[in-house]
Amino acid sequence: MEYINLESLFDKYTSSYLEISDSRILNSIQFKIAHSKGVAVICSNISLFVFLSPRHQLMAKTCGIFHDIARFEQLKHFSTFDDSKSFDHGEKAVEILKTENYLSIFDKTEQKAILNAIKQHNKKTPPIGDDEIEMALARILRDADKIDTLTSIADYYESKDAGKKKALELDLPNIPEVSEKVIQSLKNAQMVDYRDIRTLDDFKLLKISWIYDLNYSISFAMIIESQVVNRIFNSMKTKNKELDMLVGMAYGYAEASAIH
Ligand SMILES: [Fe+2]
Repeated sequence: MEYINLESLFDKYTSSYLEISDSRILNSIQFKIAHSKGVAVICSNISLFVFLSPRHQLMAKTCGIFHDIARFEQLKHFSTFDDSKSFDHGEKAVEILKTENYLSIFDKTEQKAILNAIKQHNKKTPPIGDDEIEMALARILRDADKIDTLTSIADYYESKDAGKKKALELDLPNIPEVSEKVIQSLKNAQMVDYRDIRTLDDFKLLKISWIYDLNYSISFAMIIESQVVNRIFNSMKTKNKELDMLVGMAYGYAEASAIH
């Protein structure tokens, strides 16, 4: 079976969720469909630099298309993408994929590796796995998920819809303020914690701080190429020298990591 058949399974699964009249929810569903397909393409692109075997490359793309399959159920039943208010969408995806038997073309070991990557894609801690392939799949998926999300956020802030998607921005106030803990994380070259953000500028810096959790040189190269750091930074209200320096540092880290 080729990737195209796996994508048809995804399209078949999501088609019933598109029959919804609420335009706001429909919008979010379409957004997640596009995100899943975007992540699949990025997984595939990264995997070309990580795996020699086309079979492993197919497994990486499969992780991408199915990683957020539980988002549709989550939105339908809980009207939120907040796992703490509904369910863990990584764990739930594993359940759905097993019930629907969507991974039947893969053998047991391959299935285990794919499911492990999907289960861990939304966890704070770095992925763990039983072997190199499992670990690599988990890392590729986490990088691809972040790259696609950063790109859509940068696009969003440059579009006419900027500021209209309050749920996406967690209803944070758009004021020129940045929290101390956010600054501290950036100074430590660490990912910002969701619990520390209070303003929209904090949220944007949290996204930029994802750079510190990327795994592969090619992922850093994609970040540099798409200019997402500067594009998100330019949309911020807070402007000062310290922030210029910290965001410059994040960008420099990406540049240095891209050429390893
Ligand atoms: Fe996800």
